[in-house]
Amino acid sequence: MPRKDAVQKVTGEALYIDDYSYEGMLYAAAVRSPHPRIRIRSLSDSKAKKISGFVTLVTTRDIPGKNAWPLVTEDYPFLPGKESRFAGETLALTVAETPEAAARAAQAVEVDFTELPHVTDPFIALGKNSVKLHGPDNVFSRYVIQRGEAALVDSDVMVEGTFSTSYQVHGYLETQGAIAFPEPGGSMTVYGSMQCPFYVVDAVAQALGIGHHQVRIVQRTIGGAFGGKEDVPALVAAHAALAARKTGRPVKLIYSRREDFLSMSRRHPSWTRISYGAKEDGSLTACRVRYVLDAGAYSTLSPIVLWRGAVHAAGPYRIPNVFIEAYAVATNKAPCGAFRGFGQPQVCFANESLIDELALKLGMDPLEFRIKNALREGDRTATGQVLRGSCGLEEALVRVREASGWSRRKRQARRSSGKIRKGIGVSANFYGVGLGARGRILDRAGAQVQVLKDGTVLVSVGNTEMGQGSLTVLAQICAEALNAPYEAVRITEVDTSRVPDSGPTVASRTTLMSGNAILNACEPLKERLWTAAKELLVRQGSDIQSEMQAFSGRFRIGTYSVGFAEAAKECWQKREKMAEHGWYAAAPTSFDARDGQGDAYSTYAWSANVAETEVDMETGEVRVQKVTSAHDLGRVINPMTAEGQVEGGVLQGIGYALNENLVYRDGILLNPNFTDYHLPSTAEAPEFKTILLEHGYGAGPYAAKGFGETPLIGVAPAVANAVCDATGVRMPQLPMIPETVWSELKKNAEDK
Ligand code: MOS
Repeated sequence: MPRKDAVQKVTGEALYIDDYSYEGMLYAAAVRSPHPRIRIRSLSDSKAKKISGFVTLVTTRDIPGKNAWPLVTEDYPFLPGKESRFAGETLALTVAETPEAAARAAQAVEVDFTELPHVTDPFIALGKNSVKLHGPDNVFSRYVIQRGEAALVDSDVMVEGTFSTSYQVHGYLETQGAIAFPEPGGSMTVYGSMQCPFYVVDAVAQALGIGHHQVRIVQRTIGGAFGGKEDVPALVAAHAALAARKTGRPVKLIYSRREDFLSMSRRHPSWTRISYGAKEDGSLTACRVRYVLDAGAYSTLSPIVLWRGAVHAAGPYRIPNVFIEAYAVATNKAPCGAFRGFGQPQVCFANESLIDELALKLGMDPLEFRIKNALREGDRTATGQVLRGSCGLEEALVRVREASGWSRRKRQARRSSGKIRKGIGVSANFYGVGLGARGRILDRAGAQVQVLKDGTVLVSVGNTEMGQGSLTVLAQICAEALNAPYEAVRITEVDTSRVPDSGPTVASRTTLMSGNAILNACEPLKERLWTAAKELLVRQGSDIQSEMQAFSGRFRIGTYSVGFAEAAKECWQKREKMAEHGWYAAAPTSFDARDGQGDAYSTYAWSANVAETEVDMETGEVRVQKVTSAHDLGRVINPMTAEGQVEGGVLQGIGYALNENLVYRDGILLNPNFTDYHLPSTAEAPEFKTILLEHGYGAGPYAAKGFGETPLIGVAPAVANAVCDATGVRMPQLPMIPETVWSELKKNAEDK
């Protein structure tokens, strides 16, 4: 099925938030902190007032509600009153008649401040004598997962290593933006580019001090998100809403690329110390992990990102003895948050690099070693969860072995020598679908399905299309359930006044949650449609006793047939109720905070990746030539969209592995632009080979699980393992930019 939004996006017909304007609309711009930590003494707009078109300055005094962004914890103020905690933080907003005047006025606002001592390194922040940003120890969040005797890591064969990763930004082409529209009676409507409109409801209501029933949030076409429009759009929307409340006029707030880089969320840098133990026969016995995330200045989503990372930290293997401890630490840099994979790519780089080292030490093929230890149905995960079906990891590994020509390629790589060396590497990963035990109260979704009188179908859901293909996949699910033509089904953009709070659009949960909510809504509609179709067929002359078939948008008994639209019209003739609400809540999960044991997620997606690379031994440059990926997503609803997810995720994973890096010097970001922050392009794209597997999940819509994030997670370690295969040198750090690869190669040559 073709993508619902493809033509609009390709032709430029789609409207993004900055394409909209309203009568009397004003523009806001942010006044930003120049230093990692300051005490704000005062803000003055006396110079800004001289700029033509300047309207007002919005400060903490203009917050009628509570000055705390409601998220996991409420430590992030909408506007800081006394102390600002990272360079780039919004201190106040200027509002003007034009965007240019607003931006000039923001520059002209005088901030009287004193610099405060700051900390930018999480290990210094953990020290006793550090500057304190949060609690007694700067730890936002800590988890322990303990199962069996992790001390057994020392028995038979053991390996250990320390791996670190740097930042990654989402690189969505459309920067953050919102338009707030004040409504009569103190209500507020906000339009914007966002993954999670219901988070925005919470924030706008809290900032303005009004009821949730007075807030309406409408999602506009999103120009990319990848997790980067999960939490932070609530801050942008709240700022626009505060300006709209103060001026009584619609206010547009659009970020520049630089502002987006300076202040919005990004993937957490990480440090992982990890060890594995195994028996001589190659079965894993134990794993110990210490996982530290640099969270930045406020906790935002760090507790949840950390939890997902911790739960998956030992890798997708059968390991009886596990000890994992994980920390998210406060520093004076922009807060880190959600990014495709959500705490997993960091720790997956560590565990999948070290698994290769262990296979090497045991003299086993790394791919066979993974197959031997792969989690299968009936096994227990690190949190003690028994896997009850839908486990496609072993098949994924077997299929990438065949499809990549693993053994032949490995022999070829072994023979390569000289300046350009070839290598091949593998990785395995799993992904808990949905929010899991740590976010379970949010793991539900609603849908409204209306069969209209012309035989078309209008569906409202609470999860957003952000490029992942939900409009297409959800329309297919609805069409299949009602036996309606795919073309007749339209999924609207999310409007919080139309559907119940469906949680956030994150965690690869939309197909599963909104898909099931749609199916739930379709059940009674289906009854009515099937009855009406049968009555029409009987009226045509078919036998009332015969079985009716329903497929491809038609209902048939023998040679008689009626179309979906006729059945719909017949329902309307009978004054049937043709609008229904559906609901789905995720299967129960559990997590005991004392030992980290429980059913963390209701189901998991499984993946294996094989990467083939070339390394230039003189320059340290790495090129990825081919990536073969196999993914178990339960049921492939739309093969083209799923393949698109894999290709996008693999390329994003290659960027994470080789190119993308934010550079801070003493808390100041040095490369807030796409010139100095290098995203991979088609020039870096490898050959893709994608294999989609269907180990159905009984509770999923047509047995589908979730899929959006998995393709990225295992790419970097597969590339690192290929680099090690090519060079014999283990890369301990991401990104593997030429200078770090080169110096690791040099260091290794000197050691020998
Ligand atoms: Mo996502 S990274 O769960 O928005």
